[in-house]
Amino acid sequence: MAAAAALVVDAEYLKEIEKARRDLRALISNKKCAPIMLRLAWHDAGTYDAKTKTGGPNGSIRNKEEYMHAANTGLKIAIDLCEEVKAKHPRVTYADLYQLAGVVAVEVTGGPTINFKPGRKDSKVSPNEGRLPDAKQGPAHLRDVFYRMGLSDKDIVALSGAHTLGKAHPERSGFDEKPWTKDPYRFDNSYFLELLKGDSEGLLKLPTDKALLDDPNFRTYVELYAKDEDVFFKDYAESHKKLSELGFTPPRSKTTLFAQTAVGVAVAATVVILSYLYEINRKC
Ligand code: HEM
Repeated sequence: MAAAAALVVDAEYLKEIEKARRDLRALISNKKCAPIMLRLAWHDAGTYDAKTKTGGPNGSIRNKEEYMHAANTGLKIAIDLCEEVKAKHPRVTYADLYQLAGVVAVEVTGGPTINFKPGRKDSKVSPNEGRLPDAKQGPAHLRDVFYRMGLSDKDIVALSGAHTLGKAHPERSGFDEKPWTKDPYRFDNSYFLELLKGDSEGLLKLPTDKALLDDPNFRTYVELYAKDEDVFFKDYAESHKKLSELGFTPPRSKTTLFAQTAVGVAVAATVVILSYLYEINRKC
């Protein structure tokens, strides 16, 4: 296995991340490409296997062998769009860039703010084909795939709510060209509202979407998120952060280390001063 290069998250790197974030906001708004950018972030991360600690958000989807996997058909478009930002901020890793693009895609379409921690390393090693979910299957398959990543039933339902954005493309997935919701560029809880309405509206429902209604535990969350968008946003932001950090422990940045050292020194000084005052008082 090729060892990933060491990555130092220093003040300069954090600055580049903020600039890349601004460029992604502009790019995603101008090109109206939020749905495919979110799908790119999910497909890079969603290959994670918690047992072998392989796959995950490591930028490997940029490798031809991986973006040629059937499940990734069409995502080369998003990879190429990200190159524009990478060229301006070469220090930012692909792994961070794709996850940042996913976070920005949710935010610019009106979704919740997702806490983003940088520092992911790039990998040239791609997982074998077949780790992403098959849309033609049911609840047991969804659990197999998401539990393998280390995610839960709640994560499965909350993350499926990302289908509030975008549509299917027959030439990419073979499904009819239909969106899941009436406004596929707005991130809200309408995916769950439409799911509960059934087939009448002419909107897209994949077998895996319907699986969320068939399974009683999944259905509890579908009903909750349809009823309360605030709860959906809170849970979505948590699950998305987990997805974007599978197999990744954010390094402590130098700024954090400095702040922690400063706090440590201040606490130590206070203890010394208080003991001194106590001693003086005792003597008097
Ligand atoms: C639960 C299992 C999932 C299955 C089986 C699934 C399957 C699919 C399929 C078949 C498409 C249509 C692709 C195309 O034809 O262009 C699609 C699109 C999409 N998926 Fe999923 N997906 C799942 C979970 C997720 C998750 C977890 C996210 C993000 C957190 C996500 C985000 C998206 C987005 C944003 C699109 C629209 C892409 C576009 O319009 O270009 N999906 N998904």
